Amino acid sequence: MAHALAQLLTADADRVLWVRESGLAPELLAEYAGALNGACPGRWDVLELKGGEALKRWDAMPHLFDAFQAHGLTRSSLVLTCGGGALSDAVGLAAAVWKRGVRVAHMPTTSLAMVDAAWGGKTGINWRGSKNQLGTFTLPEFVHLDARWLVTLPDRERRAGLAEVAKHAMLHAHLGQTHLEDWPAWDTSPDALEAWTAKLEKSARSKMSVVDADLHERDARAQLNLGHTVGHAVEAHFAATAHPWLHGEAVALGLKFVLFQAQDRAAEACLFLDRWLATHVPLPDTPLAQWPDAEALWSHMAHDKKNVADQVVDVAWHGWGKAEWPVMLEKSAFEATWARFVRSLEDAGTT
Ligand code: GLY
Repeated sequence: MAHALAQLLTADADRVLWVRESGLAPELLAEYAGALNGACPGRWDVLELKGGEALKRWDAMPHLFDAFQAHGLTRSSLVLTCGGGALSDAVGLAAAVWKRGVRVAHMPTTSLAMVDAAWGGKTGINWRGSKNQLGTFTLPEFVHLDARWLVTLPDRERRAGLAEVAKHAMLHAHLGQTHLEDWPAWDTSPDALEAWTAKLEKSARSKMSVVDADLHERDARAQLNLGHTVGHAVEAHFAATAHPWLHGEAVALGLKFVLFQAQDRAAEACLFLDRWLATHVPLPDTPLAQWPDAEALWSHMAHDKKNVADQVVDVAWHGWGKAEWPVMLEKSAFEATWARFVRSLEDAGTT
């Protein structure tokens, strides 16, 4: 694994700055330090940061720029990130603007970043409480996956990333049900971790087939927002409570809502996906009474930066590989469907 990274490291980089999240597994860090020593002896340094959403702030940028300067990064250098999606988003942005752009590569350490955030070149930080308002589209030189990082990730976080795996399978008929049915059981044996690495990479590469066709999200890339219109609103709602939901958990609920709307047209697939999500991405046990109502969700959705004029833009699903976008949502129809959806979960005793 570390050997594969060494091969990817560009021989022409004058310096490599390994920007990594604190708290990662020491034995893996040592293995990758060995790979860096082999690939760019004497030309690499480490910057260790606390990961998480606090990095995605304007105030976090000066520290990164100061570090880039202190380590002598030029346009011929490479920034190698190693952490979750917040770290690759924020450091990716700093690298994209440092000297008008220093190369960046990602070694993601969470399942969410492995399958989604590290791929596709979206960098970003938040602005005045709104997510990802500042950012660029800057593709990384490469993304290096190694599921061994997941061994020290909390179980809940590892599972939450799998919502994006379900999304990619829904969008790509060549993945579809088979990719999910064959999902390897979690254990920490080398074979299982290799199987996870391969499956996560296959999922991520399906995303890249969309990104390659539409990097700047003028059209086809918008389908990657499947489940995210409601998902982001649910995430924003719970972020302000004592029991925030993880991004992937909110997306899992968003996907369930998509399936609820699609049920007539793709019943078999919907039942399968509902079961798969329930097994692989359990929702937090927040009582239904504390869930946001349609009004609260709508007020978040109405502020989504992807909206056109005053309409909420969504993605609908009609079966494996069959997404439809843009679909314009209308407030009263959304409210009625959301109420029926929550009642259906109540009847099924979901929470
Ligand atoms: N996570 C969706 C995208 O990269 O477009």
